[in-house]
Amino acid sequence: MSQPQKGICAEPNLHAQFLQYNIIDEDEQAVRAKLARVLDIFDNFDNEHYEAMVSGVVCIGSDYFSELYPGLRPLELSPFPDMQCDDRVAPSNTSDLLIQIRADRLDIVHAISMQVHDLLRLHVELVEDIKCFRYLDGRDLTGFIDADDNPRGVDKKSIALIGDEDPDFIGGSYVHTQRYLHDMQRWQLLSERHQEKIMGRTREHHLVSEEANANSHYIRSRVTDLSDINGKQCLLRQSMPYANMREQGLFFVSHCHSSQPFKTMLHSMIFGTQADEYDAFLDYTNALTGGAYFAPSLDFIKLRGQS
Ligand code: HEM
Repeated sequence: MSQPQKGICAEPNLHAQFLQYNIIDEDEQAVRAKLARVLDIFDNFDNEHYEAMVSGVVCIGSDYFSELYPGLRPLELSPFPDMQCDDRVAPSNTSDLLIQIRADRLDIVHAISMQVHDLLRLHVELVEDIKCFRYLDGRDLTGFIDADDNPRGVDKKSIALIGDEDPDFIGGSYVHTQRYLHDMQRWQLLSERHQEKIMGRTREHHLVSEEANANSHYIRSRVTDLSDINGKQCLLRQSMPYANMREQGLFFVSHCHSSQPFKTMLHSMIFGTQADEYDAFLDYTNALTGGAYFAPSLDFIKLRGQS
């Protein structure tokens, strides 16, 4: 089997940096070769600083993919589904490349980012550069534990990675990102009970809240017909908070063997199934960006880096 990129199914890290680039030249051959070398950078740091649990993912934007690797395309790779309903907006602005860099040491994340940036510099312009961190015991800045219900063990791979259904892309993964900006001032004015109703979870123990209803994030993101018969998750989420004194939010990242579950969930959050059944959490956070990418297997990137 083609080896997947290690960062896709990695355990959550303490720090991350997400680099988004657009390509400014037409030297695809050089970019293919350099993306293979980005994987070497991840490996070198991982070998030298094994305690930092380095992981990374090279992702190619939905539009740029066919330019970079002409003649081959993952079956379900499509642009980010921009959606709008009233003031709930999911903008679409996929960059050509997204490089995810994660580790348990901030200095190592920085050192990897610098090397990656230096390597790609001649061919790219930097579109966005977000530094993220693990907050408390894996909570979003709203105070709620995020991704606790992520798939675990073997389910991780079957949910996040393409199998035999697309033989040219075995071990690859569909990646969706959104940078959410929270309105923390308004959120903190809500009582804990009200917050729990919106998220559909209790804040302290992460139980399903008795008051969860059709507007709760928990219910809106479940989308029962997408869960398998055991009610297992359909997305592997690798989101992390980011913050400075001006902006606080979540950099949402999901990995999946199909591009459909993310789209269906986002649709359910923004439009709901019936009038007014949208995700009430969207009254307190806004998506500023949205990207659809593909993370090919290690073998795919390395092989094509040679030609
Ligand atoms: C600012 C943005 C978001 C925040 C702060 C957030 C936070 C949370 C929290 C606290 C939970 C409950 C804990 C858990 O099960 O992980 C959760 C569950 C979940 N979220 Fe989000 N989320 C965000 C956006 C999204 C988006 C855009 C999607 C997909 C399109 C999504 C999909 C899910 C799924 C699938 C679950 C699990 C529901 C279940 O238990 O069945 N989330 N989210």
